[in-house]
Amino acid sequence: MCGIYGYIGEKSVDEVMKGIKRLEYRGYDSAGIAFQNRERLCEDENTKNGENITLIKNKGEISNLEKIVLNKNLKSNVAIGHTRWATHGEPSIKNSHPHFSGDGKWAIVHNGIIENYLELKQELQTQTESDTDTEIVARLLEKYFNGDVLSTIKNVCHKLKGSYAFAIITSHSPDKIFVAKHGSPVVVGYGKSYGVVCSDINSIKGENIYVLENDQYAIIEKGKINIFDKNLVAIDVGKLGAVKKVERSKLGDYSHYMLKEIDEIPSAIRRTLKEYENIEALEKILPKEKFKKFKNILIIACGTAYHAGLVGKRLFEEEGIYCESEIASEFRYKPFIERRKTLAIFVSQSGETADTIGALKLCKQHGLKTLAITNVRNSSITFEADYCIYTNAGSEIGVASTKAYNCQLVIFYILSKYFNYFKTGDEKAYYDEIKNLKNIARLIKKNDIKSKCGYIAQKIYKSKSIYMIGRGLDYFIAAEAALKLKEISYIHCESYPAGELKHGTISLIDKNTYVFAFVTQEKIKDKTFSNINEVVAREGKIILFSQFDNSNKKVCEEIKVPLVKERYYPLFIINYLQLISYYTALLLGNNPDKPRSLAKSVTVE
Ligand code: AGP
Repeated sequence: MCGIYGYIGEKSVDEVMKGIKRLEYRGYDSAGIAFQNRERLCEDENTKNGENITLIKNKGEISNLEKIVLNKNLKSNVAIGHTRWATHGEPSIKNSHPHFSGDGKWAIVHNGIIENYLELKQELQTQTESDTDTEIVARLLEKYFNGDVLSTIKNVCHKLKGSYAFAIITSHSPDKIFVAKHGSPVVVGYGKSYGVVCSDINSIKGENIYVLENDQYAIIEKGKINIFDKNLVAIDVGKLGAVKKVERSKLGDYSHYMLKEIDEIPSAIRRTLKEYENIEALEKILPKEKFKKFKNILIIACGTAYHAGLVGKRLFEEEGIYCESEIASEFRYKPFIERRKTLAIFVSQSGETADTIGALKLCKQHGLKTLAITNVRNSSITFEADYCIYTNAGSEIGVASTKAYNCQLVIFYILSKYFNYFKTGDEKAYYDEIKNLKNIARLIKKNDIKSKCGYIAQKIYKSKSIYMIGRGLDYFIAAEAALKLKEISYIHCESYPAGELKHGTISLIDKNTYVFAFVTQEKIKDKTFSNINEVVAREGKIILFSQFDNSNKKVCEEIKVPLVKERYYPLFIINYLQLISYYTALLLGNNPDKPRSLAKSVTVE
């Protein structure tokens, strides 16, 4: 989703351009920059002058903006930039950020959504240039300016409903960037000769980094920052404690992050295991005395993380623990059933997903204890949850989640055995699980499947519609596989529980339809094979993934997968589907790292 980068110091325009490029992976459809500037530039549809501030914006890729900015050889010590993912108004130059106030004395970039912007627009009784909620805030700043910039920002923020991270520059107080946060992530930092603000902890460059909390404000200057609480009382930054900078991975010899991240799965799994390979390490984070009282589990997440939660649910059930699994955006708006002795688990790679965090807050309001499983240290969810475990997958840049998903599964494998240990006192099962998972990581590394996956991609890439079926754990593989394929190939792809197909969807199967079938669970394999026969009878083309011998010779392709314990197939087989999705996207000329309309971290509801 949208990204903010601001910089005070030499070559601030260049720094901001580099900063917003690092934010590209989060997904966007336009970009812009505002900087303090005493010269008036020649105005056109991309460039506008305010009072000692200039805006330059463009639609589409950052390179479109870069072409204009780099030509102008701009020199400024204060700049803010933005990548926009459209929510209010189409992707266009006028709707992209930054936005000016009517008098051109304020320029603002914003992540989040102002829910009461139409009411506020009426209060302003003024025409706006864009369709955005953000421009209203710029105009409110102008209207309510009381001589003091920070208190004006605070007063305006108090009028807003919704979520925001703002970076603001103003000719009333040049040489400063003002920041406000409520609900949307933002981090600030400084070094000897610069100050910096960014919406993404993975993308900020600099020392002394602080994660702003809700309703805090910051003033950034060259060489220092001041942070204030909701009443504008200054907070001693020494007491806040700077956070460790996160190392962002580099593309190296790879052409795409997605492929790099798929290749990193074995090492990512090993890193996840390393932190928890001693049961005592997990006990320190999730104290046995507190956790053994939980008899039920509720898992909540979105997208791929939700699919990891489905596997998690089944793993807990295998240990005899009642477990529900819910999509965050649905869970939040249905009647809340009070639950006792229940641990609520929230899964989020980014730790910033608005609906997942919203659901977490709701559960807390109802008195549930909450545990976050996330990949990003110091992400918003880590401040909200009572407990937190990290997946340690390393930074994931590709929009399509790959290694983070595998590591989420690893955490569920471990957690299910940790809960089993409360019931049985049996540590051995926990350590066996760690050993088995290490073996799976080894096997994934050894399993040379790229050319096979490329071959399957060749077969399917012209399809209009694809189905993925399985039962039990195999259905959860199908669910994640279908999401992966559709999000980067744009081919319509649906997952179905194999036994459910005949209740309607089978009418869509014909001789042009590929159906991926996953059959790895002994107990239900014959049932799924019968469903496969039903598809074949309708001339559907089956691509089978199984370790079992297949008596049905009519499948179109058969991928015989290596033998592993059945419970590990979701972790193992998804590797094939991640690669098939990747190669299919390439064949269709799509950039798998930046699929259309998608964002890496979904910070709107
Ligand atoms: C994954 O490939 C997707 N891009 C998406 O479904 C993602 O998993 C979802 O938006 C949840 O994100 P999170 O894990 O950061 O909360």
